[in-house]
Amino acid sequence: MLKKISVKRLKVGLHIYLKDIPWFKHPFFRSNFKIKSNNEIYDIQGIGCEYVYYDAALSSAEPLIEDSTSNVPKTSGEQSTKIKKERSIALRKRKEAFIKTEKKFIASAEKADQIMQGILKGQISFCEEAEQMANEFADFFLSDAETTLNLINLSSSDDTALYYHSLNVAILSCMLGSELGIDAVDMRNLSLGALMHDIGKSKIPKKVLYKSGSKTKAELELIKMHTFYGVEILSTLKDVHRDVMKAIYHHHVINGKGSYPSSVDYNSKSVIAKIVTVVNVYDNLINNRDVNKSLTPHKALAYMYKVYSGMFDNNVLGHFIRMLGVYPPGSICELDSGEIAMVVSIGENPLLPEVVLCDLNVPKNEAMIIKLGTDIDSKVERVLAPKDLTADQLKYLSPKTKIGYYAEVKDKPKE
Ligand SMILES: [Fe+2]
Repeated sequence: MLKKISVKRLKVGLHIYLKDIPWFKHPFFRSNFKIKSNNEIYDIQGIGCEYVYYDAALSSAEPLIEDSTSNVPKTSGEQSTKIKKERSIALRKRKEAFIKTEKKFIASAEKADQIMQGILKGQISFCEEAEQMANEFADFFLSDAETTLNLINLSSSDDTALYYHSLNVAILSCMLGSELGIDAVDMRNLSLGALMHDIGKSKIPKKVLYKSGSKTKAELELIKMHTFYGVEILSTLKDVHRDVMKAIYHHHVINGKGSYPSSVDYNSKSVIAKIVTVVNVYDNLINNRDVNKSLTPHKALAYMYKVYSGMFDNNVLGHFIRMLGVYPPGSICELDSGEIAMVVSIGENPLLPEVVLCDLNVPKNEAMIIKLGTDIDSKVERVLAPKDLTADQLKYLSPKTKIGYYAEVKDKPKE
């Protein structure tokens, strides 16, 4: 139970709650924590509030019996204001960068939508635009810049799902291509193949494609035709590279049951097609049309490792799993501090990602993006499933239904 105490009675070892104090008014990354040093006490006293709350059960000390102000340095208030200001600017900048990335993703998806609509109408200029867009993604990953992979929270309808999916597959495919060290020509073909891999689905009636419940054998056969339709659409327009066509035609070819087209031998698959296959399956697992059937990123990787080993190229799958790390963006985790957080970005150290802390005392739209190991000395203890969270925690961390991925250049390019 929380008890209200004067800030003059604080002591190292007390677990306190800065309830009712907005995060930007204090210099701490959390709104509740155990006091570890006298400096933290000075900072709390410097906020200007008279009371805080403490939890006796989580504390390893009792509050001071009497008020004490004798050891508070006079400068603590000024220092605290300075830290507060600097931290607030840094956190706001980080948050703004994330919002900008989210807008870029949505703008790219809208552009992909326009491009595909144009291609379907047989307009050759859109084929060139598709190549240009694909080349931009490919060149980004060929640039040797250090990249971060960011989570984009999306709400999508059936109409936008295909473009978000295409974009996710293109971005993750290029990232994986870069991990596998493929050359520039392959990278550009991979990017276009990934972006266009499902364009043939536009020829399948929506009532079949988005039918809820089980599909008939004839409907399933019709859906399988999308790989053929994809190649057909592009071949009427322009001289698209053979490897791009193969990526589209072969992206459902696996070494086992469920592979199609049946006429294609798994061993004839190029590395490009193998990459698109792995990424496509991953995105379908985490972004199922039925939200309740979507797997968490962590579960999806585990599932692929368990179920698809041997059906995919193991080298490609292995690199993909390593690339996304143990805590892929979108993973909900428990930190060693006991707090709940969601991974929003991974950079050079996938074990110390950037997270959003589930702090119900901080409004959702003000939730901070925190770097583990840098901003706070916590690390991930374990990955959680949505069912492990309370309804409030789930709502706080995951307001939308789909996961998108977008890459950004981290700091400066590598030397
Ligand atoms: Fe497909």
